[in-house]
Amino acid sequence: MSFCIAIDGPAAAGKGTISKAVAAHFGFAHLDTGLLYRATGAKTFEGLTPIEAAQSLTAEDLKRDDLRSGDAGQAASRVAAVPEVRAALVDFQQAFARREGGAVLDGRDIGTVICPDAEVKLYVTASDEVRAKRRHKELVEKGEEITLEEVLADLRERDERDAARATAPLKPAEDATVIDTSDMSIDEAVAQVLALIGDRRG
Ligand code: CDP
Ligand code: CDP
Repeated sequence: MSFCIAIDGPAAAGKGTISKAVAAHFGFAHLDTGLLYRATGAKTFEGLTPIEAAQSLTAEDLKRDDLRSGDAGQAASRVAAVPEVRAALVDFQQAFARREGGAVLDGRDIGTVICPDAEVKLYVTASDEVRAKRRHKELVEKGEEITLEEVLADLRERDERDAARATAPLKPAEDATVIDTSDMSIDEAVAQVLALIGDRRG
Protein backbone atom coordinates (compact mmCIF):
# COMPACT_ATOMS: atom_id res chain seq x y z
CA MET A 1 0.00 0.00 0.00
CA SER A 2 1.26 3.49 -0.79
CA PHE A 3 0.67 6.55 1.39
CA CYS A 4 2.22 9.90 0.49
CA ILE A 5 2.88 12.68 2.96
CA ALA A 6 3.79 15.93 1.14
CA ILE A 7 5.64 18.58 3.14
CA ASP A 8 6.34 21.89 1.41
CA GLY A 9 7.43 25.31 2.59
CA PRO A 10 10.08 28.03 2.37
CA ALA A 11 13.78 27.60 3.19
CA ALA A 12 14.77 26.43 6.67
CA ALA A 13 11.17 26.17 7.90
CA GLY A 14 11.82 22.78 9.53
CA LYS A 15 10.53 20.62 6.65
CA GLY A 16 13.44 18.18 6.75
CA THR A 17 13.51 17.82 10.52
CA ILE A 18 9.76 17.18 10.68
CA SER A 19 9.85 14.85 7.67
CA LYS A 20 12.57 12.67 9.17
CA ALA A 21 10.68 12.35 12.48
CA VAL A 22 7.37 11.57 10.75
CA ALA A 23 9.00 9.00 8.45
CA ALA A 24 10.70 7.30 11.41
CA HIS A 25 7.43 7.27 13.36
CA PHE A 26 5.46 5.49 10.60
CA GLY A 27 8.34 3.47 9.18
CA PHE A 28 8.00 5.36 5.86
CA ALA A 29 10.83 6.24 3.48
CA HIS A 30 11.89 9.91 3.31
CA LEU A 31 13.09 11.93 0.31
CA ASP A 32 14.57 15.41 0.75
CA THR A 33 13.84 16.68 -2.77
CA GLY A 34 15.88 19.84 -2.14
CA LEU A 35 18.93 17.59 -2.33
CA LEU A 36 18.15 16.79 -5.99
CA TYR A 37 18.19 20.50 -6.86
CA ARG A 38 21.25 21.19 -4.68
CA ALA A 39 23.16 18.35 -6.38
CA THR A 40 22.07 19.60 -9.81
CA GLY A 41 23.18 23.13 -8.90
CA ALA A 42 26.51 21.87 -7.56
CA LYS A 43 27.20 20.02 -10.84
CA THR A 44 26.96 23.32 -12.71
CA PHE A 45 30.04 24.48 -10.74
CA GLU A 46 31.96 22.00 -12.92
CA GLY A 47 30.81 23.52 -16.18
CA LEU A 48 27.70 21.49 -17.00
CA THR A 49 24.58 23.37 -18.06
CA PRO A 50 21.64 23.04 -15.62
CA ILE A 51 19.82 20.71 -18.03
CA GLU A 52 22.90 18.48 -18.55
CA ALA A 53 23.42 18.39 -14.80
CA ALA A 54 19.83 17.33 -14.05
CA GLN A 55 19.72 14.74 -16.84
CA SER A 56 22.96 13.09 -15.69
CA LEU A 57 22.19 13.13 -11.93
CA THR A 58 23.20 9.93 -10.11
CA ALA A 59 22.89 8.66 -6.53
CA GLU A 60 26.61 9.39 -6.18
CA ASP A 61 25.97 13.12 -6.85
CA LEU A 62 23.64 13.22 -3.83
CA LYS A 63 26.53 12.27 -1.54
CA ARG A 64 28.68 15.37 -2.22
CA ASP A 65 29.68 17.04 1.04
CA ASP A 66 29.11 20.60 -0.21
CA LEU A 67 25.38 20.27 -0.80
CA ARG A 68 24.33 22.04 2.43
CA SER A 69 26.43 25.14 1.70
CA GLY A 70 24.90 28.52 0.92
CA ASP A 71 26.44 28.41 -2.57
CA ALA A 72 24.78 25.08 -3.37
CA GLY A 73 21.45 26.46 -2.07
CA GLN A 74 21.67 29.49 -4.35
CA ALA A 75 22.70 27.35 -7.33
CA ALA A 76 19.80 24.99 -6.52
CA SER A 77 17.23 27.77 -6.62
CA ARG A 78 18.61 29.06 -9.93
CA VAL A 79 18.55 25.68 -11.72
CA ALA A 80 15.15 24.95 -10.11
CA ALA A 81 13.59 27.72 -12.22
CA VAL A 82 14.50 25.88 -15.47
CA PRO A 83 11.44 23.85 -16.60
CA GLU A 84 13.58 21.12 -18.27
CA VAL A 85 15.51 20.63 -15.02
CA ARG A 86 12.28 20.09 -13.07
CA ALA A 87 10.97 17.76 -15.80
CA ALA A 88 14.12 15.61 -15.60
CA LEU A 89 13.54 15.05 -11.87
CA VAL A 90 9.79 14.33 -11.85
CA ASP A 91 9.69 10.58 -12.58
CA PHE A 92 12.10 9.67 -9.80
CA GLN A 93 10.14 11.73 -7.25
CA GLN A 94 6.75 10.41 -8.34
CA ALA A 95 7.92 6.80 -8.17
CA PHE A 96 9.31 7.48 -4.70
CA ALA A 97 6.01 9.06 -3.60
CA ARG A 98 4.06 5.96 -4.60
CA ARG A 99 6.46 3.31 -3.35
CA GLU A 100 5.08 0.45 -1.30
CA GLY A 101 5.04 1.09 2.42
CA GLY A 102 4.60 4.86 2.47
CA ALA A 103 6.72 7.91 1.76
CA VAL A 104 7.37 11.39 3.09
CA LEU A 105 8.70 13.92 0.56
CA ASP A 106 9.71 17.45 1.43
CA GLY A 107 10.33 20.31 -0.97
CA ARG A 108 8.47 23.16 -2.65
CA ASP A 109 6.08 21.51 -5.12
CA ILE A 110 5.29 18.11 -3.61
CA GLY A 111 1.63 18.80 -2.83
CA THR A 112 1.08 20.90 -5.97
CA VAL A 113 2.97 19.03 -8.74
CA ILE A 114 4.77 15.86 -7.65
CA CYS A 115 2.01 14.26 -5.61
CA PRO A 116 -1.21 16.29 -6.07
CA ASP A 117 -3.21 13.33 -4.69
CA ALA A 118 -1.08 12.98 -1.54
CA GLU A 119 -3.01 11.59 1.41
CA VAL A 120 -1.58 14.33 3.65
CA LYS A 121 -0.36 17.79 2.55
CA LEU A 122 1.41 20.17 4.88
CA TYR A 123 2.87 23.60 4.30
CA VAL A 124 5.42 24.24 7.04
CA THR A 125 6.49 27.82 7.55
CA ALA A 126 7.96 30.23 10.12
CA SER A 127 8.85 33.92 10.17
CA ASP A 128 11.88 35.00 8.12
CA GLU A 129 13.78 35.98 11.26
CA VAL A 130 13.17 32.67 13.04
CA ARG A 131 14.14 30.66 9.97
CA ALA A 132 17.31 32.70 9.50
CA LYS A 133 18.29 32.24 13.16
CA ARG A 134 17.81 28.48 12.99
CA ARG A 135 19.75 28.09 9.72
CA HIS A 136 22.50 30.45 10.95
CA LYS A 137 22.97 28.37 14.12
CA GLU A 138 23.16 25.22 12.00
CA LEU A 139 25.77 26.67 9.60
CA VAL A 140 27.93 28.16 12.38
CA GLU A 141 27.93 24.80 14.18
CA LYS A 142 29.25 23.26 10.96
CA GLY A 143 32.08 25.79 10.87
CA GLU A 144 30.79 28.14 8.15
CA GLU A 145 31.73 31.79 8.69
CA ILE A 146 28.52 33.64 7.90
CA THR A 147 26.52 36.38 9.61
CA LEU A 148 22.84 36.23 10.55
CA GLU A 149 22.17 39.08 8.10
CA GLU A 150 23.78 37.13 5.26
CA VAL A 151 21.66 34.06 6.03
CA LEU A 152 18.49 36.16 6.18
CA ALA A 153 19.31 37.75 2.81
CA ASP A 154 20.05 34.32 1.29
CA LEU A 155 16.75 32.81 2.48
CA ARG A 156 14.73 35.81 1.30
CA GLU A 157 16.41 35.81 -2.11
CA ARG A 158 15.75 32.10 -2.62
CA ASP A 159 12.15 32.29 -1.34
CA GLU A 160 11.40 35.18 -3.68
CA ARG A 161 12.95 33.39 -6.67
CA ASP A 162 11.16 30.15 -5.76
CA ALA A 163 7.77 31.86 -5.37
CA ALA A 164 8.13 33.98 -8.53
CA ARG A 165 9.07 31.27 -11.05
CA ALA A 166 6.50 30.19 -13.62
CA THR A 167 7.01 26.42 -13.23
CA ALA A 168 6.04 24.77 -9.92
CA PRO A 169 6.39 27.91 -7.78
CA LEU A 170 6.62 27.79 -3.99
CA LYS A 171 3.06 28.08 -2.67
CA PRO A 172 0.75 26.05 -0.43
CA ALA A 173 -1.47 23.54 -2.23
CA GLU A 174 -5.13 24.60 -1.92
CA ASP A 175 -5.81 21.62 0.32
CA ALA A 176 -2.63 21.85 2.42
CA THR A 177 -2.69 22.43 6.17
CA VAL A 178 -0.43 25.37 7.03
CA ILE A 179 1.72 24.96 10.14
CA ASP A 180 3.64 27.97 11.44
CA THR A 181 6.52 26.70 13.60
CA SER A 182 7.82 30.18 14.60
CA ASP A 183 6.91 29.62 18.24
CA MET A 184 7.23 25.83 18.32
CA SER A 185 10.08 23.61 19.41
CA ILE A 186 10.94 20.70 17.12
CA ASP A 187 9.12 18.31 19.49
CA GLU A 188 5.99 20.48 19.51
CA ALA A 189 5.99 20.78 15.73
CA VAL A 190 6.43 17.02 15.26
CA ALA A 191 3.68 16.26 17.81
CA GLN A 192 1.26 18.57 16.00
CA VAL A 193 2.03 17.00 12.63
CA LEU A 194 1.71 13.45 13.96
CA ALA A 195 -1.67 14.29 15.52
CA LEU A 196 -2.88 15.69 12.22
CA ILE A 197 -1.70 12.68 10.22
CA GLY A 198 -3.19 10.32 12.80
CA ASP A 199 -6.59 11.93 12.19
CA ARG A 200 -6.22 11.48 8.40
CA ARG A 201 -5.19 7.86 8.64
CA GLY A 202 -8.25 7.14 10.76
O1 CDP B 1 14.22 21.33 5.69
P1 CDP B 1 14.16 22.79 6.02
O2 CDP B 1 15.14 23.60 5.26
O3 CDP B 1 12.77 23.35 5.91
O4 CDP B 1 14.51 22.99 7.56
P2 CDP B 1 15.37 22.05 8.54
O5 CDP B 1 16.71 21.83 7.96
O6 CDP B 1 14.58 20.87 8.96
O7 CDP B 1 15.45 23.00 9.82
C1 CDP B 1 16.29 24.13 9.84
C2 CDP B 1 16.87 24.26 11.22
O8 CDP B 1 15.84 24.67 12.14
C3 CDP B 1 17.45 22.96 11.78
O9 CDP B 1 18.67 23.24 12.42
C4 CDP B 1 16.40 22.50 12.78
O10 CDP B 1 16.97 21.77 13.84
C5 CDP B 1 15.82 23.81 13.27
N1 CDP B 1 14.42 23.75 13.73
C6 CDP B 1 14.06 24.29 14.95
O11 CDP B 1 14.93 24.79 15.67
N2 CDP B 1 12.74 24.26 15.39
C7 CDP B 1 11.77 23.74 14.64
N3 CDP B 1 10.52 23.73 15.08
C8 CDP B 1 12.11 23.18 13.38
C9 CDP B 1 13.45 23.21 12.95
O1 CDP C 1 16.93 23.32 3.14
P1 CDP C 1 16.36 24.51 2.42
O2 CDP C 1 14.91 24.66 2.73
O3 CDP C 1 17.14 25.75 2.64
O4 CDP C 1 16.49 24.24 0.86
P2 CDP C 1 16.20 22.90 0.05
O5 CDP C 1 14.91 22.30 0.46
O6 CDP C 1 17.40 22.03 0.13
O7 CDP C 1 16.02 23.45 -1.43
C1 CDP C 1 17.05 24.18 -2.11
C2 CDP C 1 16.42 24.86 -3.31
O8 CDP C 1 15.97 23.84 -4.22
C3 CDP C 1 15.19 25.69 -3.02
O9 CDP C 1 15.49 27.05 -2.70
C4 CDP C 1 14.38 25.58 -4.32
O10 CDP C 1 14.79 26.52 -5.27
C5 CDP C 1 14.76 24.21 -4.87
N1 CDP C 1 13.73 23.20 -4.67
C6 CDP C 1 12.66 23.18 -5.56
O11 CDP C 1 12.57 24.05 -6.43
N2 CDP C 1 11.73 22.20 -5.49
C7 CDP C 1 11.78 21.27 -4.54
N3 CDP C 1 10.84 20.31 -4.51
C8 CDP C 1 12.83 21.28 -3.61
C9 CDP C 1 13.79 22.28 -3.68
